[in-house]
Amino acid sequence: MIIVTGANGKLGRAVVERLLKRLPAERIGVSVRDPNQAHELRERGVRVRRGDFDDAESLRHAFEGASQVLIVSSGIMGEADIPHGIRQHQTAIDSAKRAGVRRVLYTSHMGSSPASPFAPMIHHAATEQRLEASGIAFTSLRNGYYAASALMLIDGAIKTGELIAPEDGPVAWTAHFDLAEAAAAILSEQKLDGITPNLTGPEAIDMEGIATIASEVLGRTIRRIVVSDEEFRDLMRSRGVPEASINMRMGMFLASRRGDFAQVDPALAHLIGRPPKGFREVLKESIS
Ligand SMILES: NC(=O)c1ccc[n+]([C@@H]2O[C@H](COP(=O)([O-])OP(=O)(O)OC[C@H]3O[C@@H](n4cnc5c(N)ncnc54)[C@H](OP(=O)(O)O)[C@@H]3O)[C@@H](O)[C@H]2O)c1
Repeated sequence: MIIVTGANGKLGRAVVERLLKRLPAERIGVSVRDPNQAHELRERGVRVRRGDFDDAESLRHAFEGASQVLIVSSGIMGEADIPHGIRQHQTAIDSAKRAGVRRVLYTSHMGSSPASPFAPMIHHAATEQRLEASGIAFTSLRNGYYAASALMLIDGAIKTGELIAPEDGPVAWTAHFDLAEAAAAILSEQKLDGITPNLTGPEAIDMEGIATIASEVLGRTIRRIVVSDEEFRDLMRSRGVPEASINMRMGMFLASRRGDFAQVDPALAHLIGRPPKGFREVLKESIS
């Protein structure tokens, strides 16, 4: 049985949907914090059990009989939360090992690095170290940066016509749908062991490019305005954004400046057997 955690979230649920197209429902299980939210999967024959990374006993039950477990990284990613996030993933890895799984998959990130200025990347790198130390076979999915995150970055700009951000760098924006398809292919076809190549969208685009594409798609001008890091921080503070969130956003821009999200790799296209969606397509879908 293949167990997917985070299956009430966007990526986990999309992976389950793609798995259901490939495998009988009785070979799929989900580990979710709130089983009630997954009742529709249960009705379709998927095994639904409660599993919380903060509760090892719940994972023992949720991972029972699993041959593979896909650990969808928890959302705890701020700098101050890294130790808690690492503990959660360690608990999930240990629970999978105790359940006797053949392989663990983990949703890492293309920018995973212990030296990243962007806190989530440190969390991913630490989890990958723990997977390597666990002695179990694992696949760490180096997922591209979610195109959905770019949609969030331009949300305000769509209203104001101004995309205000500090200096940035190109990002290989990647669709949830394609990453889910790839994870389902890797799970069901037993592909790719260890750290995968970066699983990315078809092109790397910076904020200037995002503004240009958004202007074309929306039919009105969105201007990219570059501000200094301090001006950006002050602007965020004036809007009441908490300091931890400001640090997270700045971290993303600093990492993109270093080129940490710039590499475009053909691996995702090979896995899903077609060109992955680009940012333009994801934006069009989001407004249709
Ligand atoms: N590649 C990227 O660019 C990128 C960008 C942002 C985030 N991420 C990572 O990718 C993950 C999946 O993305 P997504 O879009 O599917 O996010 P999402 O919709 O927020 O889903 C996150 C899932 O993690 C689960 N989770 C949180 N804490 C947990 C815990 N203690 N135990 C078990 N499960 C827990 C949540 O469970 P509930 O449904 O019960 O809340 C939720 O289902 C995120 O959590 C984040 O780590 C990647």
